[in-house]
Amino acid sequence: MTDSEEIKRRRTFAIISHPDAGKTTLTEKLLLYGGAIHLAGSVKARKTSRYAVSDWMEIEKQRGISVTSSVLQFDYNGCRINILDTPGHADFSEDTYRTLMAVDSAVMVIDVAKGVEAQTKKLFKVCSDRGIPIFTFVNKIDHFGKNPFDLMADIEDVLGIRSCPMNWPIGVNGDYTGIYDREKKLCHLFVKDNAHGVKKLEVISGRIDDPEIVSHLSEEVLSSLKDDLELLEEAGDPFDKDKVSKGELTPLFFGSAMTNFGVQTFLEKYLELAPPPEERETLEGHIAPEDPAFSAFVFKIQANMDPKHHDRIAFLRICSGIFEKGASVLHRQSGKMLRLSQPQQFLATERQTVEKAYPGDIIGIFDTGELGVGDTVCEKKSPVTFIDFPVFPPELFARLSPESSMKRKQFLNGVSQLAQEGAIQIYKQPYIMESFIIGAVGQLQFEVMKYRLEKEYNVTVNVEPISYTCARWTEGDVPPEELIGLDNAMVVYDRRERPVYLLPNAWQAGWLEERNKDVVFLQSPPLGVTRLEGN
Ligand code: G4P
Repeated sequence: MTDSEEIKRRRTFAIISHPDAGKTTLTEKLLLYGGAIHLAGSVKARKTSRYAVSDWMEIEKQRGISVTSSVLQFDYNGCRINILDTPGHADFSEDTYRTLMAVDSAVMVIDVAKGVEAQTKKLFKVCSDRGIPIFTFVNKIDHFGKNPFDLMADIEDVLGIRSCPMNWPIGVNGDYTGIYDREKKLCHLFVKDNAHGVKKLEVISGRIDDPEIVSHLSEEVLSSLKDDLELLEEAGDPFDKDKVSKGELTPLFFGSAMTNFGVQTFLEKYLELAPPPEERETLEGHIAPEDPAFSAFVFKIQANMDPKHHDRIAFLRICSGIFEKGASVLHRQSGKMLRLSQPQQFLATERQTVEKAYPGDIIGIFDTGELGVGDTVCEKKSPVTFIDFPVFPPELFARLSPESSMKRKQFLNGVSQLAQEGAIQIYKQPYIMESFIIGAVGQLQFEVMKYRLEKEYNVTVNVEPISYTCARWTEGDVPPEELIGLDNAMVVYDRRERPVYLLPNAWQAGWLEERNKDVVFLQSPPLGVTRLEGN
């Protein structure tokens, strides 16, 4: 296979959803098709294996939520698939955000009974801001659900995107018995066995006028299906690849991940329609995946993935060139050369050393503390720089200190590693060495920080909330002595040594801005590359 064919067969995507919509179940079903895991496919099996597969951290087991993203790779129908799992909890939107910077498309899972939910809305916005194609999988159609036209209206009203149903649920009043494939003009029915409310997965397929299909459907269901299909033909949006690729239209699929109904057809169609790696922007201009010079950026750092080894892994998304094991690359931010000697790839249940990887692939490399989230690695002879990731404005602040001063070393080590991971925002106060100020989008981030410092660095910490709710950066990093009206502000410095002004509320922030009209205030750190050294 040529390099260009290798690139074109890559599909790198994330699955996004509100918690409980079925993202984990769908991910596992997709893995099953790729032969990446061998499960019976039942929910029970999934339950016992799910943590082993995609949830690494102990805290996730305890709380039953997914707080970290994982990466899984498998082959299907000639495609090389990289799925970047995203955490479902609202407090981890920042981690999710970064993951979404590394994908070429996204699958949005919606619960048929609930429609678009709060978290789906947030995640969708991130995807649509990036203009990446979004495919929608309406899950749980084995269950009672909403009318599909209402779901389409919901998607349009809440998310502002039109949808184009690729298949259509068969059934009335939310009681579904199968799906109709609009392209192939085939009905697929699942046969219900109502004993204990369980639905057996016995699929019958055929044309709408096939006597076997007709025999399974009531007159009401058949006529409603025919009416719906007619209406979709006349008034629905036709499939338009161009609009899909710009993120203006979402192909809509109905199915049930748990009963494995409609998942395979979804996967196949998705792979056909989803884009391979495309051009990316850098400070030096566009780079295409086919460009021969290697480039990649760090979208995630995770310390202690293997608690036995205290390792730290930086996840890189390859954007151009071919990566070969052992290559020496330039770390753009420090100007140092790095030898990527033990690159890892993540194959569902295990890590493997990778010999060669292509644009679209994700590799994990052991990092000694050099790399930060958003950093670029590239070839020395053709340096490029990916722009920093946007940071969510923090809304909660606390003072973080070790319970015992004897543990100061571990404390500093843990805090600096977790800060580099981007797990939380960490600020220093001038002249205060014993504690840090931490900023988060949600309370859970504080809890995870506390837990991880205890578990991974063996330091018990105090997290005392402080009563600030807004942070302001300034364009050009204006120092405090040049500002007036800082009486109610706390001055701290972020990990790139930029001054940050913490204020009790939005009103006070507005007042500060009012009094310093010549200064441009920012709610999150300015974008750009502030850490280039030695180039
Ligand atoms: P998430 O990752 O988006 O949070 O959702 P997850 O896959 O964990 O699924 C949430 C719940 O929804 C699970 O039930 C799962 O079994 C169920 N589910 C997923 N897909 C379907 C489907 O197609 N039909 C139906 N009826 N249910 C589905 P749970 O009871 O919360 O967890 P578990 O005890 O099954 O693990």
